[in-house]
Amino acid sequence: MKVTIYGSGYVGLVTGTCLAEVGNEVVCVDIDQRKIDMLNNGRIPIYEPGLEPLVTNNKEAGRLSFTTDVAAGVDHGLFQFIAVGTPPDEDGSADLQYVLAVAKSIGEHMNEYRIVVDKSTVPVGTADKVHAQIKETLAQRRKNIEFDVVSNPEFLKEGAAIDDFMKPDRIVIGSNNPRTTELLRALYAPFNRNRERIVTMDVRSAELTKYAANAMLATKISFMNELANIAERLGADIEQVRIGIGADPRIGYHFIYPGCGYGGSCFPKDVQALERTAREIDYDAKLLQAVEHTNNRQKQVLFEKIQRHFQGELNGRTFALWGLSFKPNTDDMREAPSRVLMEALWEHGARVRAYDPEAREEARRIYGHRDDLQLCDNALEATDGADALIVVTEWKEFRSPNFDNIKASLTQPVIFDGRNIYDPNTLRTCGFTYYSIGRP
Ligand SMILES: NC(=O)c1ccc[n+]([C@@H]2O[C@H](COP(=O)([O-])OP(=O)(O)OC[C@H]3O[C@@H](n4cnc5c(N)ncnc54)[C@H](O)[C@@H]3O)[C@@H](O)[C@H]2O)c1
Repeated sequence: MKVTIYGSGYVGLVTGTCLAEVGNEVVCVDIDQRKIDMLNNGRIPIYEPGLEPLVTNNKEAGRLSFTTDVAAGVDHGLFQFIAVGTPPDEDGSADLQYVLAVAKSIGEHMNEYRIVVDKSTVPVGTADKVHAQIKETLAQRRKNIEFDVVSNPEFLKEGAAIDDFMKPDRIVIGSNNPRTTELLRALYAPFNRNRERIVTMDVRSAELTKYAANAMLATKISFMNELANIAERLGADIEQVRIGIGADPRIGYHFIYPGCGYGGSCFPKDVQALERTAREIDYDAKLLQAVEHTNNRQKQVLFEKIQRHFQGELNGRTFALWGLSFKPNTDDMREAPSRVLMEALWEHGARVRAYDPEAREEARRIYGHRDDLQLCDNALEATDGADALIVVTEWKEFRSPNFDNIKASLTQPVIFDGRNIYDPNTLRTCGFTYYSIGRP
């Protein structure tokens, strides 16, 4: 089948590549010339495990191509996937300008029936807006061409995106036209072989399903972080509590890890956008507000511990920071807890020596060259001469380091662990002062 994907970011590039991998002819359109040039020159603009060889193979097989030419994109695909960003607007609601810009381009160039698929995470009612935008643009061209708009939210996780797309938990198709649903069913058939994963529903329910999923996951994290803060003050150990509650199958062990807050391009903005949607319909979404508030506060917790330990004297100190990306296996630093922490440290006159296996370039792009940030080539280079080590992202390579080497390279043996990856007893035996989240 012929597919066009607008947006070659984490979602669009993975979607396009995986659809090409199963035999479809895919054209990826992006307005970012730099990204398209990189992709055409065999380079991948993001870090996503397993993506590079798939892109290369499918390009070479002639099933996957990249362009900034919107007209060619509209001309190519029966399926027109919108996978552009939906960042927060000034008031926290989802900014639909990129989605509607794509809709307008489709209306400007469309000459025959098209299925427009909203894959971006968009508020309830967006499919109607996309429909209205295309219809209006067609009317300006005095054209009356049939088209459908479908909601097909994406649930992939950065860092495991290929696997998630190839073997999805579910494929949600929100459509009010049974014929279109069947065409999408056919497109997704290769990913739906070992059991029925396709869930069909009306468009508005599909749009809400994506927000509901992310809000639920964010709620689990904020709940555990709240409990961790309470545990810490009561002299209880949140890790013991986690094991104790996870054993209940109604609760389960997934996604109940305490930490230094959730980040990324999805949870923070989606919880916020859902809360703003509720506000627009005069519903006071107290739980969603609390989830967001709790997370913002949690992103300060490491800094507060650091400040307490150094009795407020941070000016002139140097901190080793392990992990810049918002979670392991990605270079994505959007809303990452590391950013809140570094910015607080810099504000108080401290310097940061940071190491991340993949996010170094992204950190350079965000912060440029600054005297108080040194991006290091390896973990031990970061600790060299620092006053303390702070672990912000739980990359695998941080899990079992050589503590003697760390101790020898720090000026003081202090570790702040924002992900509870170390055993407090081991670290104390090794002579460290060790701070973690929610443990005595
Ligand atoms: N990142 C994730 O893990 C994830 C998971 C599920 C859903 N989503 C949702 O998917 C959407 C995309 O997220 P992302 O992380 O891939 O974003 P991204 O920022 O990585 O990529 C978006 C891309 O869209 C391009 N773009 C903007 N306007 C365009 C236009 N008019 N035509 C063509 N391209 C255009 C940008 O240049 C950029 O390359 C968002 O709504 C997001 O909430 C993201």
